[in-house]
Amino acid sequence: MPDNKTVTIGEALRQGATRLVNSETPQLDARILLKHALGIDDGALIACASEVISESEAARFASLIDRRAMSEPVAYITGEKEFWSLPFKVTPDVLIPRDDSGALIEAAIKRRRRDEPLRIADLGTGSGCLLCALLSEFPNAQGVGVDRSEAALGIARTNVAALGVGERVAFAPGDWLAPLTGVFDLIVANPPYIAETEAPALSRDVASYEPHDALFAGVEGLDAYSAIIRQLPSFVAEGGLVLMECGSTQTETLAAMLQELAPENAIFTLYDLAGRPRGAGFDLRKGEKGD
Ligand SMILES: C[S@@+](CC[C@H](N)C(=O)[O-])C[C@H]1O[C@@H](n2cnc3c(N)ncnc32)[C@H](O)[C@@H]1O
Repeated sequence: MPDNKTVTIGEALRQGATRLVNSETPQLDARILLKHALGIDDGALIACASEVISESEAARFASLIDRRAMSEPVAYITGEKEFWSLPFKVTPDVLIPRDDSGALIEAAIKRRRRDEPLRIADLGTGSGCLLCALLSEFPNAQGVGVDRSEAALGIARTNVAALGVGERVAFAPGDWLAPLTGVFDLIVANPPYIAETEAPALSRDVASYEPHDALFAGVEGLDAYSAIIRQLPSFVAEGGLVLMECGSTQTETLAAMLQELAPENAIFTLYDLAGRPRGAGFDLRKGEKGD
């Protein structure tokens, strides 16, 4: 670890990465943490690689590397995570946004015109990342984010304000659709979907740091879907679109559950960036076909 007065940025980076033996991405983690410790961007990190950092900067970086070496996720250490090219504040009260959840945003963009005045509900909004991404893509839309974690809603409120979409958003504390009134043109949900029996197989980064309520959903991981699908029918507007993320092995089960609510040809699968099935949904708009 950098522990003397003459370490350069490049050396600090190498030494920091070497300590992250349990990380799958040690170089990337060390780079993000060094940028955070020094308050610099990627360009400066490269351009100034041979510059010496001060003792206090080295100590600050060392303490961040210590935390990461204990498996604390990088996003909780820096307090931020990018999703859909937007910056989000994150704390251990919210799930860290995952790039794969972009599949929900892509599906919405593919199935609705950008200028539509959609009424959006985001169930289990967490950091508010899905709602903010959708509102950034649909400038005439309005949305409501639901979460039963008041702490999560506090973070989501901060994010919508920082991203300039606060005037188009309301938040509702409570259980899935229970606090809502009216109908919605687009309902998205990335609910907890990990089976409790899978807990021992989770990485320490996830299991020890991310909120239990954002991860686990009963013995088979399906409890949240059952609860949401029970409540959904009276909240979907005519011609509405419903998009739900799930685990890669759950897509068929979720699609079958959605058949209670929509004709088979309205139901479709969502795929993540690697082409793995990662969700299901239905589109009640006439003329739309499942894919
Ligand atoms: C997997 S996280 C998703 C967070 C965010 N939407 C995202 O995609 O990063 C699930 C969220 O659902 C919330 N949640 C869990 N059970 C809930 C319930 N019964 N009603 C409302 N929200 C719930 C959790 O607090 C958590 O914020």
